[in-house]
Amino acid sequence: MSPELTIHKPDEWGAAGGALLVERLQSQPGLSLCLPTGNTPVPAYAAFASGGGTLDSNHLFLLDDFLLPDGHPARCDLMLSRTLLDRLAAPPRSLHRLDVAAPDLDAECARFESLVDEHPLDLTLLGLGGNGHLGLNEPGSNADSRTRVVKLEPDTIRSAAVYGDGIAPRHGVTLGMRSILRSQEIWLLVTGGHKAGILERTLRGPVGSAVPASFLQFHPNTVVLADTAAVAGFG
Ligand code: PGA
Repeated sequence: MSPELTIHKPDEWGAAGGALLVERLQSQPGLSLCLPTGNTPVPAYAAFASGGGTLDSNHLFLLDDFLLPDGHPARCDLMLSRTLLDRLAAPPRSLHRLDVAAPDLDAECARFESLVDEHPLDLTLLGLGGNGHLGLNEPGSNADSRTRVVKLEPDTIRSAAVYGDGIAPRHGVTLGMRSILRSQEIWLLVTGGHKAGILERTLRGPVGSAVPASFLQFHPNTVVLADTAAVAGFG
């Protein structure tokens, strides 16, 4: 079953995405939710917060993070606070994240994955990497890849430098493809003309680890929330 594609005008995309999330959490308040950071979700998170969205009855999982020192502006935990959590009336019931300062990162990844198994994901939102990654599952990641430490690709390193103060991480930790693909429902967030080529490969190209996002073609309940720029040129 192919992902369903929904398309909004660029200036309406954030409001639409934020409202969808508010509605979903009102109708299914206790769901287990995994959220990404990055630039794409920012307008949807702003609309969610200003639309009265709340996460106070949810188990909330943060999708990934960079191996950067505590307090670095490109750290995903800080990005999530800046763009979403600090704007909410109440904190989430439980925020689970990968602790990149843990002395044994492999054990930390195993701990996080077990927590996801304990609270199976009902809904996972994802950004789409310019190289086709999901979370930090870089090209080469298989559909059954586990939560782990990853070496970042040059494209991802460049993007991460933009999030922060120019200091780029070389490694990250990410929820594995296996856990992502087990989520009951997935919303893939894609905006901007610079994502059009990779979105087309994701949805219409061959399925395989060269473009990890292409595994979504086999996921039974994925919706792509795109703006018109991200689908420009689709035949
Ligand atoms: P972006 O990143 O939202 O900043 O484009 C997406 C991603 O790399 O997953």
